[in-house]
Amino acid sequence: MKPDLSIQIGSLKLKNPVMVASGTFGYGKEAERFTDVRKLGAIVAKTVTLKPRVGNPPPRIAEVTAGMLNAIGLQNDGVDRFIEEKIPYLKKLGIPVVVSISGGNKEEWRELAKKFDRIKEVSAIELNLSCPNIHYSPLPQRGRGLGEGGDGLEWAQDSWLTALAVKSVRLETKKLVIAKLSPEVVDIKPIAKAAVEAGADAISVMNTIRGIAIDIEKRKPVLSNITGGLSGPAIKPIALRLVWQVAQAVKVPVIGIGGIMNWKDALEFMMAGATAIQVGTANYINPRVTVEIIEGIDQYLKEQEIQNIRQLIGAARR
Ligand SMILES: Cc1cc2nc3c(=O)[nH]c(=O)nc-3n(C[C@H](O)[C@H](O)[C@H](O)COP(=O)(O)O)c2cc1C
Repeated sequence: MKPDLSIQIGSLKLKNPVMVASGTFGYGKEAERFTDVRKLGAIVAKTVTLKPRVGNPPPRIAEVTAGMLNAIGLQNDGVDRFIEEKIPYLKKLGIPVVVSISGGNKEEWRELAKKFDRIKEVSAIELNLSCPNIHYSPLPQRGRGLGEGGDGLEWAQDSWLTALAVKSVRLETKKLVIAKLSPEVVDIKPIAKAAVEAGADAISVMNTIRGIAIDIEKRKPVLSNITGGLSGPAIKPIALRLVWQVAQAVKVPVIGIGGIMNWKDALEFMMAGATAIQVGTANYINPRVTVEIIEGIDQYLKEQEIQNIRQLIGAARR
């Protein structure tokens, strides 16, 4: 018996639920030498912005207990170069391509969505809402120190802002729209609901959570940005809790992200209510990890005599 690993996210059918998380796999080509990218359920590209961004100065990565801190600062060449230089390769992969976008205001979200709406091979647009908005912040500037970029509240920290971003994108595209939420909120449920009401077809949780590492020799923060996003095994229980909560709050598919290192972790997320999963930090340790996760899930289903992986979605909540 060959188990069926396929899952459905809105209009998009994936041959298996395993994707790579935005920003941790480059644009796919970088990983080609190490693993068979074509085996993935889908590839999620690194976040692009309307204009190029240089990102934060180094050091911008620090290894910490059970994870890493990163403060890359959305470095990218801008959407036009991405479309010109990266999309041709991604198109050839033959697996669904999810692009990730980040806007500073509603016009930028619309512009980015419009550009990708024209590209047939782009299957879905993920909104990276863990970036500060430029125009709508009800808070004064946080300034350098606590807060990447210092432009104020992140989109994902407020349900109104989340809805504004999603609506702006929805206006420009009929493609699958995925809202990627932040863990840095008191209650994620109203934010997930606002995203769905505004037109999101799926919710992915979670992005990184800010942390600090101190160099005791220099008596200074390790990262030039002071804070960096924590990812890796350290965040897995938090991510599982958020997936659980979001899956109960909304009816659309949830994509689980956070500290997934192996197939057992992936299954935990699915049983907590995720329809699919994304793997980030683990790619740095083992670029073949996603393929091994797919193989591990397949083996588990065979051993458990489960015909269809969809039977496991939310199984722990029933
Ligand atoms: C180096 C690095 C760069 C990242 N860049 C992005 C990005 O460009 N866009 C985004 O939405 N998330 C980005 N993330 C967050 C990941 O996609 C993911 O949500 C997070 O790392 C948690 O998953 P993990 O514990 O499996 O790494 C980045 C993470 C890391 C470690």
